[in-house]
Amino acid sequence: MTVREILKMGDARLLRQAQKVPAFDTDALHLLVLDLYDTMRAANGAGLAAPQIGVDLQVVVFGSDERNPRYPDRPLVPRTVLVNPVITPLGEDMESDWEGCLSVPGLRGQVPRYARIRYTGWDAFGEPIDRTVDGFHARVVQHECDHLWGKLYPMRMRDFTQFGFTEVLFPGIAAEEDD
Ligand code: NI
Repeated sequence: MTVREILKMGDARLLRQAQKVPAFDTDALHLLVLDLYDTMRAANGAGLAAPQIGVDLQVVVFGSDERNPRYPDRPLVPRTVLVNPVITPLGEDMESDWEGCLSVPGLRGQVPRYARIRYTGWDAFGEPIDRTVDGFHARVVQHECDHLWGKLYPMRMRDFTQFGFTEVLFPGIAAEEDD
């Protein structure tokens, strides 16, 4: 239950292929999940992956059970702990939209993502998760799971004219939340 330091782009630990979690429902895994949530909330993030706090394991957290008043139109993504995930794109359709990242502070970029995916994995107790999602939910899952494969969103970008500082791209809107 600790707010941990978030590693920033340039740190080689963000480029590793994370290891699979070997056992569920352990004290170590539950403590890691608490740290991820505390750190994500303290930074006003939409999600966080274990490698971002220097932990080399396939664990991500994302979503919220409450709607963010700053983003009233954004679809609600359920609060989720996802361990050892597998993502399967459903179809070839890609959509571009703005993303930010707590490991790339102050910047936003247009990132193409699969429009519709199925994702599977487990929660921290070992209960299976199997969801088919699209849109913003699909984007958040792809962004967070990319951290487990050593990918940061700029590595997925194709158009670098659509990359810049949040305060310049969206004047008047503080960079209050990042993915
Ligand atoms: Ni990120």
